[in-house]
Amino acid sequence: MKKRILSGAQPSGQLHIGNYFGMIDRMIGFQSRSDLFCFVANYHSLTSISNKDKLEKNTREAFIDLLALGIDPEKSTFWVQSHVPEVTELAWILSNFSPVGLMQRSTSYKDKISNGLKPNMGLFSYPILMASDILLFNSDIVPVGKDQKQHLEMTRDIAIKFNNIFGDIFTIPEIEIDESNDLIVGIDDQKMSKSYKNTIPIFGDRDTINQQVMNIVTDSAGLNEIKDTNTPLFKIYSLFLNDESTKELYDRYNTPGLKYMEVKKELVDIIVDYFADQRERKNELLANEDKVNDLMNLGKRKAQKIASDTLSNVKQATGLL
Ligand code: TRP
Repeated sequence: MKKRILSGAQPSGQLHIGNYFGMIDRMIGFQSRSDLFCFVANYHSLTSISNKDKLEKNTREAFIDLLALGIDPEKSTFWVQSHVPEVTELAWILSNFSPVGLMQRSTSYKDKISNGLKPNMGLFSYPILMASDILLFNSDIVPVGKDQKQHLEMTRDIAIKFNNIFGDIFTIPEIEIDESNDLIVGIDDQKMSKSYKNTIPIFGDRDTINQQVMNIVTDSAGLNEIKDTNTPLFKIYSLFLNDESTKELYDRYNTPGLKYMEVKKELVDIIVDYFADQRERKNELLANEDKVNDLMNLGKRKAQKIASDTLSNVKQATGLL
């Protein structure tokens, strides 16, 4: 039996190469080896977006972007979270097994409040909805970045507690922390993240990509000095290279005469080329609304089949049926 891997992505606007090399390329790889469940977490986005057009547009675009990048809706189960509303019913049930003290220890909640988000119940209950996302589909493994680790621990706590009372209803998911997620640096050498405005967008046009690459910070080493490879230009460039080409770049850095401007110009071409097919697929999907709707429906049907089974087991076990 293939292991079931589940991952959700909030539709937060333009995907960037940090998202790609941090998670998306691995998800695409998982599809042949495992039973991938992947969804656009638009209920979660209500914690930060209260604008109809923006939420609709971001959700659709995130769905299209992931399709264009290679999520295969036939092989995998790929849906929009709110199209399978069973998740909210389970979240309600789970909230009765989620101690307030546990939720209050959420560092992500505390961070979001200190960054100016309103402390409402949606934000506070975010980890319960996330537990529901995971438990509803009997996920075996949930790969996440370090920032999501505590949420996953809460999911396990809630599931174990529920199973102790009602029997073996939920699969207890394994947490798989992906360190590489935190290693992808932005143009300023901090972690690449939308909130730092240091990203390079996957589907940006050449001008945008060019502008961001030209802004990658470099040191002031002179033309005839060798260059430091522990720097963002080298690190970002090597994401696109295999080991052998990385070694060649390394050698160029260690030979006097390297011009950062030339390296930057090459990098712009490489990025634009690397995502050329994906960009074409994205444009096709943007032009074909019916096809996207059909694929959304396919995902909804596949996900809902499993969701409704789990939910009815839970309702049976708790006495709600
Ligand atoms: N909270 C995750 C994030 O912001 C997105 C997410 C929602 C998720 N539900 C999930 C990730 C379930 C993994 C499993 O990145």
